[in-house]
Amino acid sequence: MKRIILIGYMGAGKTTVGKQLADSLGLKFYDLDWYIETRMHKKVSDIFAERGEDGFRTIERNMLHEVAEFEDVVISCGGGTPCFFDNMDYLNQQGDVIYLKARPDVLYKHLLMGKTERPLIIGKTKEQLLEFINEQLAKREPYYTKAKYSLDVSLMDNYEKIKISVQKAKELLGIE
Ligand code: S3P
Repeated sequence: MKRIILIGYMGAGKTTVGKQLADSLGLKFYDLDWYIETRMHKKVSDIFAERGEDGFRTIERNMLHEVAEFEDVVISCGGGTPCFFDNMDYLNQQGDVIYLKARPDVLYKHLLMGKTERPLIIGKTKEQLLEFINEQLAKREPYYTKAKYSLDVSLMDNYEKIKISVQKAKELLGIE
């Protein structure tokens, strides 16, 4: 039984790498935000708006405990998932966790390009966004670095490089 879990900051490429990693290993892919939206029949941004961040984190933890029981899956978490409750210890107990690590300037570039609404960064100016990423990443790194594996994906901005990241993830996990 395989359960591979990807964590990392918003814009690191968890979903992109996760999908391809799952495909290449013949595993099912689950994105935690997608799972929450499907189970709750509501967008993450609406859950934040209606219940605040605390309400979202409670739902996120409950949904995590469903998804992280599935077998033969690759799961990509939300950027904040490892940083609340005992989620990080739980993740390490449930599977092989890989931290997709990217530099703040790379995350910034990806988040500027991303079209999805991310409630934590909506309405920020470019300057505020960069500052926010720097500050929040510093707070979150102690959680992220508890992952068993860490993979630098700072170079991951085109198809070839994504393929290389997927290959590196497999090498870390010792699977071909
Ligand atoms: C969040 C990241 C988002 C989503 C929510 C909160 C965070 O997921 O769970 O908006 O706290 O970093 P992605 O990392 O997939 O954008």
